Amino acid sequence: MVCVAVGYLMIYLINLICVQSEPCVAFLRLQAKQLELPIQVYYPANEQNPLVVLTWQGLQPELPSVLLNSHMDVVPVFPENWTHPPFGAEIDQEGRIFARGAQDMKCVGMQYLAAIRALKRSGATFKRTIHISFVADEEMGGRLAMLPFVDSKEFRALNVGFGLDEGIASATSEIPVFYAERTVRRVIFQISGTAGHGSLLLPNTAGEKLSYILERMMAFRKVQFQRLASSPELSIGDVTTINLTQVQGGVQGNVVPPLMTAFFDCRLALDIKIPEFDANLHKWAAEAGGGIELEYEQKRGHIPPTATDDTNPFWVAFKDATDELGLKIKLQVFPGGTDSRYLRQVGIPALGFSPMNHTPVLLHDHDEFLHAETYLKGVQIYQKIISNVACV
Ligand SMILES: *[C@@H]1O[C@H](CO)[C@@H](O)[C@H](O)[C@H]1NC(C)=O
Ligand SMILES: *[C@@H]1O[C@H](CO)[C@@H](O)[C@H](O)[C@H]1NC(C)=O
Ligand SMILES: [Zn+2]
Repeated sequence: MVCVAVGYLMIYLINLICVQSEPCVAFLRLQAKQLELPIQVYYPANEQNPLVVLTWQGLQPELPSVLLNSHMDVVPVFPENWTHPPFGAEIDQEGRIFARGAQDMKCVGMQYLAAIRALKRSGATFKRTIHISFVADEEMGGRLAMLPFVDSKEFRALNVGFGLDEGIASATSEIPVFYAERTVRRVIFQISGTAGHGSLLLPNTAGEKLSYILERMMAFRKVQFQRLASSPELSIGDVTTINLTQVQGGVQGNVVPPLMTAFFDCRLALDIKIPEFDANLHKWAAEAGGGIELEYEQKRGHIPPTATDDTNPFWVAFKDATDELGLKIKLQVFPGGTDSRYLRQVGIPALGFSPMNHTPVLLHDHDEFLHAETYLKGVQIYQKIISNVACV
């Protein structure tokens, strides 16, 4: 059993040596055949970004279905910084499997399939249809896969009522469960001002205005920074982060430039009133002396969190499963972005969960690994969770 399951993960990861998505799709076709499940491949944006869905039909296929989502793309590697070949999926003497995607999130995709295989073999049947999706482009923001897919008639035909997607590993015994994400605001201040010779004291320069904006943004940041530092119960997803990421402008050393731009990466926590935050940005731009245009690279509205109380029967079923398994879970707001947000955006409750406790957080890092035992335990955890949520 151990060898079979670990072997799976390895075979799958080996497929990633090829940078194209086709070997992944071919691998999933083989899995679908072995599992005797129908498979569909969609291309919501272009041929380089497939989206694969395996389907296990429920006894009442008219009911909203359960979606088990994972992404098949991974972030790049620096092979010279790894102690094992990053696409070799080598297992060491301690049982650690080293591979890009071992945590984020080949593991989860393969655990879904292993759990489905075990459930099918045990003769289980469920009320609800289960779709297992493998998507491209998540690491690049999902604009070429999940985002257009949730708006398609093909997606609507899946009639999804609840989704599971990725979480993050946890070094402690607790496993985080993500029910919401912060709202991303990438804001660019285009600051124009009086241009001229560097030897003068001109009024209303771009530099002065930039200084005012920076002061305001950094004051806001400091409050959040201190809140996080002084409240052990808060994690990064609970506060608003503001980071100055790019500053551009200038012509040469002795010329006061007509334009400077400042780029801020802002992630707004659930306690922020978004229209108020946006209004503040405009207010500060005006106070700085005017002549400032605001541009947004990402300006999404608020996405409602997934309910984690008894108004959401899928949450209740999920929680019953983790309680019964004796797992310690902790509800959290995801600090970054995942494809779950696109499900929530179209009104589908979704939870982010990767059963990887007692595991250092190594997503996107060198020497990403997952212990084989953790992987196998996760398969059992998913069997229970899937059984519960597909019977709601
Ligand atoms: C990778 O390792 C080299 C030294 O071998 C080091 O100079 C470099 O900073 C490392 N790269 C990253 C991204 O950590
Ligand atoms: C912004 O910087 C802080 C540290 O100052 C960091 O904790 C946070 O993750 C950063 N936010 C983003 C969105 O990168
Ligand atoms: Zn991921």
